[in-house]
Order: sequence, then structure tokens, then C-alpha cells
Amino acid sequence: MKAIRLDQVGGPESLLYGDMLKPVARDNQVLVQVYATAITRTEFEWYPTFHTPEGGIRPFPIILGHEFSGVVEAVGPDCMGVQVGDRIYGLSDWFINGAQAEYCLTVPANIAPKPVTLDHTEAAAVPISALTAWQALIDHAHLQAGQRVLIHGAAGSVGSFAVQLARHQNAQVIATASVANIDFVKALGADEVVDYQVTPFETVVGDVDVVLDTVGGDTRGRSWGALRTGGRLVTVAADAEGAKEQRVRDAFFIVEPNRNQLMDLARLIDTDVIRPVVGAVFSMENVRQAHEQKPVRGKNVLRITEE
Ligand SMILES: NC(=O)c1ccc[n+]([C@@H]2O[C@H](COP(=O)([O-])OP(=O)(O)OC[C@H]3O[C@@H](n4cnc5c(N)ncnc54)[C@H](OP(=O)(O)O)[C@@H]3O)[C@@H](O)[C@H]2O)c1
Repeated sequence: MKAIRLDQVGGPESLLYGDMLKPVARDNQVLVQVYATAITRTEFEWYPTFHTPEGGIRPFPIILGHEFSGVVEAVGPDCMGVQVGDRIYGLSDWFINGAQAEYCLTVPANIAPKPVTLDHTEAAAVPISALTAWQALIDHAHLQAGQRVLIHGAAGSVGSFAVQLARHQNAQVIATASVANIDFVKALGADEVVDYQVTPFETVVGDVDVVLDTVGGDTRGRSWGALRTGGRLVTVAADAEGAKEQRVRDAFFIVEPNRNQLMDLARLIDTDVIRPVVGAVFSMENVRQAHEQKPVRGKNVLRITEE
């Protein structure tokens, strides 16, 4: 199969477009023909990209891209609930090879039927960002109707889903974004958008029940004071992983695959409650550009197979 491989630790310059053996579905595995996979630019820096869960070095070649949309090509002998030909989307285990390839392996618990109103390139941009927003707001922050939530980085991939989900929860949504994205974030459902480059948000926002931080650093540091007594801050920003400050460590989590949540998200998408934001779409040959070119909004997507 055609695949984008890493034969050594590195960044986008180390990505190679070439041939690899097509994987075989064993046990309860699902072999997916990948139609599209979204780009996560920070993936080179993540621990699981080059390490095993036990702390060793993962064998090369390594394939990136853990969210995908595609069609089930084959299933292992113990696989239940998934049929060849199913049109699915999902998020795979971080420690295995990903979906920047014509085929990838996954398991039924990590996939769900793809939203029918999205094509594969749009569907591929959903799993990581939408699951992160869902798990942050609902599982970790327990956001309730009527509560006030401050969402940092609201124009980003995670933030744009978070604004839409918080609005759907009937929360009062206050968001931060730069001037070019203010109307965009309002259109997603934010009640109030603070231009963080002009107004220090903590001077105009306070007494919130929940802060969702996707930015980190100083933005997170200044957010604690915006919480009401008993309010909750959740952070997913990459710099929170391994932070020294205990309250930051406690506030951080890493998104997990979740079939039921993917099914709920597909329902919300197909009933027009939420939409993904796709930056640009690239071919496999242009994978380095796909990683290097920061999208104005949303996620870049790699198209693997024409629909
Ligand atoms: N822990 C997890 O499981 C998990 C999962 C997914 C992502 N992440 C991490 O979460 C972070 C966000 O990911 P993403 O995919 O949403 O990134 P993204 O699409 O690049 O979005 C980041 C957004 O932050 C905004 N921004 C930058 N500086 C800001 C500031 N000072 N205040 C407010 N907004 C600011 C930018 O908007 P403007 O253009 O308006 O400036 C940009 O749209 C990254 O660190 C990523 O690694 C973690």
C-alpha cells in the first residue's frame, strides 16, 4: 500500500511517501480503507509517536494520523458489530501506526458510523477535536445548562467544537479569539467574544463556572482568577502535559477514543447542531506541506482515496 512513513525521529521534513505492506486484521481488529485523515501538527512532539506504553522506542517505520474516515475493508475473526463495507470514522490508539496510509488497523470500540451528511474529508476532521471538546466540557467539567463557560482558542479545531457543544448544552458561552475570527466564533454560537490581542480577558470576564483552555501558558495562568468559587478549569493545551504545577496537572487530560461519543457526535452533525471546520485538503504527495501550513481555521486534511 501507499503510506507516509517516518524512518527516524523527526519533523515534517522526515516524512516519506512510499510503499509499505498492507496490514492484516487479526483477532478483533478492523482493517480500514482510509479515505481521509486529518493533520495534527503537534503529533511529532507527542510521547506515543515514538515510544511504547512501556517506555521503549517504537519500531520504525512509524505512520502518523490517528483520526480517519473510511470504509471497512476486512475484519478479524473475533470482530463483532462491524461489517465489511461499513462507512466509518474514528480515532485510533496513539501507540499504533496511524492512517496516513491507504489502510490502517483499528478496533470496533474506536470507530462509529460516519456522519452521513459529511464527506470523508470533512468527517476526518471530527474525531480528535470533537471528542476532546466533548470530554472536556461534559466528562471533565460537567458543564450544565445555564452555566457560564469561558472557551479559549475558540476559533481553533477544539475550540470551535467546544463553542458549538456548549451552546447546545444551553450554557452561556464567552470565547476568546483574534479580531479576524470574532464573527466566525459568534456564528458558531458564542454569546460574547473577547479579542484577546486587544483586551486582557480577565479584565472583562469573571465569575465563570468553567474555563476550557486550549491555549496554555500565560492564558491559562490568568484564567484561574476568572473562575467563580468552586468553578472548574480544564486544559488540553499541549504545554500542560508534564507541567510542574499540581493544579495544572489535575486540570489536564488526553482525549480518548469513544465509540458512543462518536455516535452522539454523528447524530449532532447530521441534525445540523455542530459542524467541523476544514482548513485545506492535501494529497499524500504534499504531506509535508499539509503539516507545515497552519490552517487559518480548523484542521488540514490529507485525502488518501478519491470518493
Ligand atoms: N489533550 C488533548 O487530548 C488534546 C487534544 C487535541 C488538541 N490538544 C491541544 O490543544 C491545543 C489546541 O489544539 P487545536 O487543534 O484546537 O489548535 P488550533 O486549531 O491551532 O487552534 C488554536 C487556536 O488558538 C487561538 N489562539 C492562539 N493564541 C491565543 C490566545 N492567546 N488566546 C486565545 N486564543 C488564542 C488561535 O486563534 P486566533 O487565530 O483567533 O488567534 C487558534 O485558532 C494544542 O495545544 C493541541 O496540541 C490536546
